[in-house]
Amino acid sequence: VKIPFSLDELELGNYPHYMLKEIYEQPVAVQRTYSGRIGPTHKSANLLDIKITLPPQLNSIVFLACGTSYYASQIGKYIIERETHIPVRCEYASEFLTSARLFNRQDLVIAISQSGETADTREALLIAKRKGIEVAGLVNVVGSQIARIAGQGMYLHCGAEIGVASTKAFACQVAALIIFMLYLKKHLSSIRVSGDITPAHTPLLEPSPSFPSPQPNQPSSSRLFDPPVTKDVNGQPLEESIVRVCSALRDLPVLMQHVLSNTTTMSTIDEIVAFMKDRKSAIFLGRGIGYPVALEGALKMKEISYIHAEGYPAGEVKHGPIALIDEDMPVFFIVSASDSVVLTKIVNNMEEISTRGGKIITVTDCEPTNSDEKVQAQLKRVRSISAYTISVPCSDLCCSPILFTIPLQLIAYRIAVEKGINPDRPRNLAKSVTVE
Ligand code: AGP
Repeated sequence: VKIPFSLDELELGNYPHYMLKEIYEQPVAVQRTYSGRIGPTHKSANLLDIKITLPPQLNSIVFLACGTSYYASQIGKYIIERETHIPVRCEYASEFLTSARLFNRQDLVIAISQSGETADTREALLIAKRKGIEVAGLVNVVGSQIARIAGQGMYLHCGAEIGVASTKAFACQVAALIIFMLYLKKHLSSIRVSGDITPAHTPLLEPSPSFPSPQPNQPSSSRLFDPPVTKDVNGQPLEESIVRVCSALRDLPVLMQHVLSNTTTMSTIDEIVAFMKDRKSAIFLGRGIGYPVALEGALKMKEISYIHAEGYPAGEVKHGPIALIDEDMPVFFIVSASDSVVLTKIVNNMEEISTRGGKIITVTDCEPTNSDEKVQAQLKRVRSISAYTISVPCSDLCCSPILFTIPLQLIAYRIAVEKGINPDRPRNLAKSVTVE
């Protein structure tokens, strides 16, 4: 992937703001997250530097995070539950004090943090650690507090993120969560998910030099190793399902670059920015994996453009929020073609909004070239009721959130610039919230 800028993290280069530079760095940043972790020929997920000790009897995985990192964790939840059936809980770190009592040594608690210094996330992780729960981290800043407390996990390797808004870190968090899902898949045969009669567990890979080595008294489990499973929880041959995701990850940077350099997308964004810049509110809607993307799009709109925005599950709107819908309420929809059942339902939601006068802005991966007739029929409905439609390339469902989010990042950035707001230093915000 050729990106026209220097890789020197702190140089602004030809960009007017760090946020724009970091949006355009995303293809290379995602490559850096997966390189060395998935095989060069799409064929395998070697995951060499990853060492996360999984509890021998795994009840659930618990993500602790804040803000955009929390929305990345919700995407991780969707991906991991879909591909491994391991229950995943996403906890706002600031709320973990009340929910910590639910979890014990049969859970794995993972802190997700770009800075590794977020006080809420750090304190929540310490609560888990003091309970003797197995902890890990998905962190960008090497040697940060959260990485050191966790003692094991994965670094994002996405480079320094200077803009206050999380952009490339979000993309790399999702990529890292996909890789973690592959790690779980590869070790399914050695994980006993509670209630499952699955084989025993053996200690995983040696402590990774890239993460602080775990404390000597860290519980290690040594149990007999049973024959590996050959199919994943969806009945797919295990290796094939791993290769499918590795291939999608390897193809992703080129697809991301396509979004970033697509002139049709950029001119549609121009129109959306002109329409949005004087608006006071917006609603973002998605279903399935599109729901956390809607939440992230709403957060970008709030924190960078200062426009009040709320994200909801699309099916929830008729239970109240639909009262907000009129000609002055822009409604963003994230429409994924990858799940035909969800697609039909969300297009029905779009019609509910359209008939009440809502102005619909759609980001979809339903490509005109998609061979599925049902998708084509739905795409026609989507285009007929959307005032603006941005198409992104189709990818594996796991990778689609990264593609959906790019236009939303650019829209928030462009509105801010139009309004004379410095997108790198939005009011009241800090890059890392080191106070609780
Ligand atoms: C997102 O654009 C914000 N910068 C903010 O929500 C951020 O994601 C949150 O404060 C968590 O930061 P962390 O990933 O460094 O822990």
